Amino acid sequence: MGYALITGASSGIGKQLALTLAKNKIPTLLIAKNEQKLIEICQFIQQNYQVKSHYYCYDLSYEHVAKEIFERLELDKIDIDYLFNNAGYGLSGRFEKYSYKDYHNLIQVNVLTLIHFSKLFIDKYALCSTPKYLINIGSTTAFHAIPGMSVYAGSKSFVRSFTIGIARENQNPNLKIKIVTPGGTHSNFMTKAQITNAKAIKLGQKFNMDAQEVAEIIYKNLNRKAIEIIPGFMNKVHAVIAKFLPHVLFENSSKDIYVEK
Ligand SMILES: NC(=O)c1ccc[n+]([C@@H]2O[C@H](COP(=O)([O-])OP(=O)(O)OC[C@H]3O[C@@H](n4cnc5c(N)ncnc54)[C@H](OP(=O)(O)O)[C@@H]3O)[C@@H](O)[C@H]2O)c1
Repeated sequence: MGYALITGASSGIGKQLALTLAKNKIPTLLIAKNEQKLIEICQFIQQNYQVKSHYYCYDLSYEHVAKEIFERLELDKIDIDYLFNNAGYGLSGRFEKYSYKDYHNLIQVNVLTLIHFSKLFIDKYALCSTPKYLINIGSTTAFHAIPGMSVYAGSKSFVRSFTIGIARENQNPNLKIKIVTPGGTHSNFMTKAQITNAKAIKLGQKFNMDAQEVAEIIYKNLNRKAIEIIPGFMNKVHAVIAKFLPHVLFENSSKDIYVEK
């Protein structure tokens, strides 16, 4: 059986995806920067689920890293059945708060490395005769602009549009391409994004989903026909009302939460 390669597997949704897949006897290859966390997750999986789990420690903000990883997979003779492009992060606050380099790194991780991985995977498996899965993790921030998280929301709009586009191009029923659109989820996301606003934290505590629940929903929906997986009722409602309500309503409330006064 081929492996599930999961980027951003050291915490949050990626870690829970690794555990969910392992529980279902799928071998996992975990990628992130934090080596200690990856070692602990691999050991936990091997001890508790008796299925293979390896890790590669990489910083995905470097330009050619996806190619390097695919070359290493060849050398290690690891075949991939599932590619979860999950690594990603946000930066909150006014656009002026961060440097161009900060935004460049974010786009490299959230967008460019994701495209590169997708390209390498599809080039290799476009004609696959057994099931292969390319799963890109987007966000409900793709539904409209998010003042105070403009670059992040833009990156996720790209990921969603790109993934739906290539999924509709795909004619091979064995190759399944899906976009996952989670909303607020308990993870390190808010800390990394520097979200400190009390209202945002309170809303997160009240409405965020558990990363484990998100991961299980993703797993259960891998073989469904729909291209988009939207975990949770509230996020599905968000998707529907964003189609009908003027976006300025969402944009003003995001501005309240994420832009410093
Ligand atoms: N949590 C939410 O509310 C939410 C909502 C919608 C969508 N999402 C999306 O869900 C995905 C997972 O996020 P999460 O919520 O689980 O956040 P998280 O707990 O912060 O996890 C992010 C993962 O990405 C990895 N990562 C970040 N930058 C990296 C880099 N340069 N190189 C390698 N790995 C890197 C992190 O690993 P290291 O730090 O070890 O490198 C970590 O494993 C992201 O794409 C995020 O945009 C999250």
